[in-house]
Amino acid sequence: MAETLDINANADRQQQYTDLLPQLRGLISGEPNLTANLANLAAALRQSFGFFWVGFYLVDGDELVLGPFQGDIACTRIGFGQGVCGAAWQEATTQWVPDVDAFPGHIACSSQSRSEVVVPVLVDDEVVAVLDIDSDQLDDFTEADVEGLQAIASLCSELFLTPAV
Ligand code: SME
Repeated sequence: MAETLDINANADRQQQYTDLLPQLRGLISGEPNLTANLANLAAALRQSFGFFWVGFYLVDGDELVLGPFQGDIACTRIGFGQGVCGAAWQEATTQWVPDVDAFPGHIACSSQSRSEVVVPVLVDDEVVAVLDIDSDQLDDFTEADVEGLQAIASLCSELFLTPAV
């Protein structure tokens, strides 16, 4: 069934995330497949806010591997502590980067990426993935984006919980 998202374009960004979160929960509820849910979450974020690049990198041994995303082609593997994503993994904290050129070791999958937010997805205090958002505008993210994306990352955590036997 085709899904639609109801986001008020005239509302402030914080309200838009508040309105989006329950819709995302509805979008993934009842679907057990992780790939399908991450793909829809990435699509919903890009559809709602028009971000340049939205996607997930999943922990795969000692690397992050590219997961479902929306946007230009991207690097497939990132080492622990490497780039903005690897830093989010290593430090288990959100990386809010107003200017990617000022971030030591930033990995430029696209030369059009100018600012970035990467939020770790945690299960039992362990990073299992990161949610990576790129903008083609300098300093394009606000506190509202960081808080909203952190709430979405928390929603994602539930997707990684193994179903009770
Ligand atoms: N910029 C990221 C790499 C992933 S691309 O943005 C999709 C980083 O420095 O980790």
